[in-house]
Amino acid sequence: MKLKIKLPLLFVIMFILMLALIAVFFVFYVGHMLHGNMFGPLHFKMLLFLSVLLGLMFVALIIYFHFNITKPIQILNLRLIKVKIGNSRTSLQSRRKDEIGQLYNHFNEMEERLYQAHREQVDMIAAIAHDLKTPLTSITGFVELLSMQKNLTDKEIQEYYELIIKKTKHMVEMINAFSAFTKDELMLEKIDLKPLETRRFFENIADEYETELSGFDYKLTWKHSFAPNQFILINEHMIRRVFGNLFSNAVRYGRKKELNVYFTGYVSGNHSYFQVEDDGTGVPDQELSSLFHKLFTVDKSRQINHGGSGLGLASCKSIIEHHGGEISAFRSDYGGLGIRFTLPLSV
Ligand SMILES: Nc1ncnc2c1ncn2[C@@H]1O[C@H](COP(=O)(O)OP(=O)(O)OP(=O)(O)O)[C@@H](O)[C@H]1O
Ligand SMILES: [Mg+2]
Repeated sequence: MKLKIKLPLLFVIMFILMLALIAVFFVFYVGHMLHGNMFGPLHFKMLLFLSVLLGLMFVALIIYFHFNITKPIQILNLRLIKVKIGNSRTSLQSRRKDEIGQLYNHFNEMEERLYQAHREQVDMIAAIAHDLKTPLTSITGFVELLSMQKNLTDKEIQEYYELIIKKTKHMVEMINAFSAFTKDELMLEKIDLKPLETRRFFENIADEYETELSGFDYKLTWKHSFAPNQFILINEHMIRRVFGNLFSNAVRYGRKKELNVYFTGYVSGNHSYFQVEDDGTGVPDQELSSLFHKLFTVDKSRQINHGGSGLGLASCKSIIEHHGGEISAFRSDYGGLGIRFTLPLSV
């Protein structure tokens, strides 16, 4: 039972008990008065007995308050003083279904979220350090070669300079992508949402990318089953960024001469679904769930040539989740990668 019901009920019961005891005493006293007996030792004993009973009731009430309210709050307070976000934390245990039980559950969930955010930060720093270390090691190697080897030909010197420039450019791109990503994350906190007709929005995107992909000699096939007057509440600029990354990924990583891209839209329940698939090389099944991790790229060694920093899909996930939707990756029936995301329909 919830505390908001339990506590007033307890007070009402106590009050009724108290009234009943006073009434009993009064009836007893009036009865004796009618028989001509004035206040005597029997009344005094009765008054004493009732006072002790009332006293016991209040002691029971205080004990109840201590164990049911004060103690759990003290435990929570102690825990708040030393919130742990490490691996070895133990969650607060409570089988209660009332507000205190809910408070403990919410505290455990908050600790878990803090832990996840902390892990993400640590992983991201490790990934950035790793991604910067690799080109930096090559740059240092080439610079050392240039300064130590005195008998290099002009062609070799030129080649080494070009490699240094290429690696440096890649590092700058990575840092730019990273700072754009963090800026986006901050912007997402205060984005404006506007209602857009799903069908019209889908067709606009499809038209735009059909033209863009045809420029690479790739084909976009699209279909949707959105009805008129179905609206989504979105920040158009941000959702366009999502499509931008999905279509550019297909072009970048499809690695096929005549790539086919498939764009599908439909409604299920109270969500609209958008799906972008390709018949390119795809992503190994075991890597599918990692695609949305920050700085994750499937093939690190080829990444330098493609110029990707592995932040695009992480950013898509952030944007979609800020709109109340979900995003996932799957192996497409067409052979390549499929990405599906949902956006809630506005009612
Ligand atoms: N359509 C696709 N086919 C095959 N692999 C893909 C496809 N889309 C994404 N990937 C793989 O997933 C990785 C992550 O993609 P993501 O968009 O997050 O980053 P990116 O494209 O490398 O960099 P950015 O988008 O920040 O420029 C890519 O590096 C690539 O290895
Ligand atoms: Mg990308």
